[in-house]
Amino acid sequence: MIKTKLTEMLGIRYPIIQAGMGPWSTEKLCVATANAGALGIISTVGIGYKWVAPSAYQEELANKSPYQILREVLESTRQKTADSKGIFGVNIPLAEEFREPLEELFRATRDARREDQDMAERLRVIITSAGNPTPWTDQVKDAGTLWFHVAPSVYHAQKAEKAGADAVIASGREGGGHVAFEPVHTMVLLPQVVRSVGVPVIGAGGFCDGASLVAALALGAIGIQMGTRFIATQESDFTQMWKEKVIDSDEKGTVPGISIFGPARYLKNQVSLRLAELLRKGFQEGYQEGVELETKGIILSMEGKDPDWSIFFGGEVAGRIDNLPTVKELVESIGDEAEKLLKQMGDYVS
Ligand SMILES: Cc1cc2nc3c(=O)[nH]c(=O)nc-3n(C[C@H](O)[C@H](O)[C@H](O)COP(=O)(O)O)c2cc1C
Repeated sequence: MIKTKLTEMLGIRYPIIQAGMGPWSTEKLCVATANAGALGIISTVGIGYKWVAPSAYQEELANKSPYQILREVLESTRQKTADSKGIFGVNIPLAEEFREPLEELFRATRDARREDQDMAERLRVIITSAGNPTPWTDQVKDAGTLWFHVAPSVYHAQKAEKAGADAVIASGREGGGHVAFEPVHTMVLLPQVVRSVGVPVIGAGGFCDGASLVAALALGAIGIQMGTRFIATQESDFTQMWKEKVIDSDEKGTVPGISIFGPARYLKNQVSLRLAELLRKGFQEGYQEGVELETKGIILSMEGKDPDWSIFFGGEVAGRIDNLPTVKELVESIGDEAEKLLKQMGDYVS
């Protein structure tokens, strides 16, 4: 068993976080991950869409507010993780583009915890990302959870610490989904963030197995957050087409391209190569066409249609992923491999 500050803070068995991955649902992933002893995360980007929050849409048309939807998703997650006493959290990106429902999402998290003791014990963390954390300090603190913030640079990590975050997730540019304009990758970013802040740091971008977990610990992290690796699991909410694309990609299989609030890393196909070309021309210049292509591509990916023009966010680590385990198998194999490696490493020391 590997014990770190992260397992201690959250009361989880493995120092592993399943990343928020909106605007797609991570409801099933969150449940499977929490039940397996790591931290499961509910995604909230686009929570008004049926595909993002399926448990709040028993009927075809649900005219509900983001507050109501998140409350229902959290309650469904609580029930499905009750037997294992699984630990979970919520990802709330703070980008201006998502501003409208943010207050409701923080309130929903707060009220869910206030009204139910079991929820309060197991809904342990809010992970904010993609925006300035400073104006949100009071609302996050009011929810009563721990607060982790995703930062792609030392500057942003220090800002999160100053705003009151309990930990920072240093997110390298090889990661899937939104990435910084500046190409600073995990190997350099993570230890530099560790040196620059006083709060604990978690690594994100490029992690998939026990070896990379050990590397993160060696660089000073208390654990890892993984997105792409969790897509290719049996229980993941993503389409079979997407899972196979992760497995089929090699290490050159991704590209950063234009996305709604900055560049994002995509698995390569026709639409992402076009988004990359637009990004090279200039973010402002390519923005309108880029966002139109992305919006259409997100719908196609939901429907499992047209692999050439579907949006598939994904990280470089797809090149290291070649199987489709259950979440439990994945998390256990990472823990076992990391333990073994840490013990073997003693052999290097005379
Ligand atoms: C499909 C997909 C969707 C994502 N959406 C979000 C999101 O809604 N919020 C967020 O903070 N990060 C998002 N990310 C980034 C992940 O949370 C995570 O930091 C990243 O995947 C880590 O890098 P990795 O893919 O190499 O594991 C997304 C990533 C992917 C692959």
